[in-house]
Amino acid sequence: MRKPLIAGNWKMNKTIQEAVDFANEVKGLVPDRSKVDSIICAPALFLDRLLAAVDGYNVHIGAQTMHYEESGAFTGEISPAALEDLGVSYCIIGHSERRDMFNETDESVNKKTAAAFRHNIKPIICVGETLEQRERNETKGHVANQVSKALQGLTEEQVKQLIIAYEPIWAIGTGKSSTAEDANEVCGHIRQVVESSYSGSAAQSVKILYGGSVNPGNIDELMAKPEIDGALVGGASLDPHSFLRLLEAAA
Ligand code: G3P
Repeated sequence: MRKPLIAGNWKMNKTIQEAVDFANEVKGLVPDRSKVDSIICAPALFLDRLLAAVDGYNVHIGAQTMHYEESGAFTGEISPAALEDLGVSYCIIGHSERRDMFNETDESVNKKTAAAFRHNIKPIICVGETLEQRERNETKGHVANQVSKALQGLTEEQVKQLIIAYEPIWAIGTGKSSTAEDANEVCGHIRQVVESSYSGSAAQSVKILYGGSVNPGNIDELMAKPEIDGALVGGASLDPHSFLRLLEAAA
């Protein structure tokens, strides 16, 4: 059985104090770790303080991006070694905003995924189609291609620890979530891609999240679907009450 997972992606929001206040407010109220895992993916500047704030609680802290190189002349970038050193255990890789605005490619997503595993960081790989691709009925082909390229060269054991987030770009921050049926179908397709490239047991272990306008009003129907193991949540993860409500629904 795959344990449900709710990951908040705060994007470029909150101040350090607001982040720490959030952590202090939710940490004692999150459901038990036997029922659900929770992750907050925060701006890099907050990670150290957040890790200290949630120490011992069922809240994991993740980064929103990192470089794949170990070190070097990459002004402004964050190395996987630095994240590992800090104790960060998850990192979002290839979010559509980074693919769109910061030149991330399938190739860099693949390199970052491998780098994350070298540094004991679990990757949360994001994939998803544009509205135009959906209208042209290219969703499954596009997403399968993104997944296959991201996973190239990974071992079966690594794939079993992976988290893949299916985030249709047209649903991000728009209030227009995918229907639970459609999201379930694409998540199931991703699982099939993993099965055909690796094994049935890898496909049954990999966690597949849905992301895109998830909120306390639609989380129940999404979580009721067999292929959806949790959610990657932007806007609704910024408020402590709605983050807790999402965790309760997933638990
Ligand atoms: O990574 C989460 C995300 O892109 C979805 O954002 O605000 O639609 O939940 P939102």
